[in-house]
Amino acid sequence: MAIYDSSRKRAASYDSHTHLNDDKLFHDVAAYVGRAHEFDVMQMNVVGYDALGNQRALEIAREYEGIQAVLGYQPEDSVDFDQAAQDKLAEQLKDDQVVGVGETGLDYHWDTPVDVQMAAFQTHLDLAKTLDLPVIIHNREAFQDVYDRLKASQIHRGVIHSFSGTPEQAQAFADLGFYIAFSGVVSFKKAPEVRAAAQALPHEQILVETDAPYLAPVPKRGQTNEPAFVAYVIDSLAETLSMTADEVADFTRKNAQRLFLNHD
Ligand code: NI
Repeated sequence: MAIYDSSRKRAASYDSHTHLNDDKLFHDVAAYVGRAHEFDVMQMNVVGYDALGNQRALEIAREYEGIQAVLGYQPEDSVDFDQAAQDKLAEQLKDDQVVGVGETGLDYHWDTPVDVQMAAFQTHLDLAKTLDLPVIIHNREAFQDVYDRLKASQIHRGVIHSFSGTPEQAQAFADLGFYIAFSGVVSFKKAPEVRAAAQALPHEQILVETDAPYLAPVPKRGQTNEPAFVAYVIDSLAETLSMTADEVADFTRKNAQRLFLNHD
């Protein structure tokens, strides 16, 4: 694996999913944005997960050029997604800085009641449909239920975030019209299926992301992740696809711009 050389300029990239709103990063947003620029990461989506995370995502998007907000309640926090929270989210989603709804979905790893998660998920899907925004899906150990719900809802515009399943699952989501976003997981030694999924997908449906501060890619694994490190995700994906990093940065950026900013 090539080690990223920040002295060499390369094609601009788009981190489609990051959490500069997380406590681990929020104290130093300017520094993380500056470092992202040094690594040619010129655009990113800051993704919300609860009330405070959503508020911070909006603040960051208003302050920085090239940063957009995605707002929602992640499955783990769906117990807090009461009527007042739903009303507030519906209002916030109308902001000019917002380019998507999420992250939402189902997570069967933690013990948040499934019916509560399902109800919150459906509300997010309804909001995405009403507002004509792409939806950002969090799926953990819940492939079949997520898939069935997306299919039944006739939602065809969105992202399967930090994909970690099989090539068959990736294809099933892609067939619904979803983009598949690869995080640092694609660089992990024990994830050959994730790399096989990337190889099988049409390039037009592939995005990259960090999910920072989590899931730092090789060679930063175990460290606090940050948007700059999407460069390493791109390195790994380039190796997987037998392409150059510039090519991968280029097509994933264009895909993200098409989906979130409605231009090529
Ligand atoms: Ni996330």
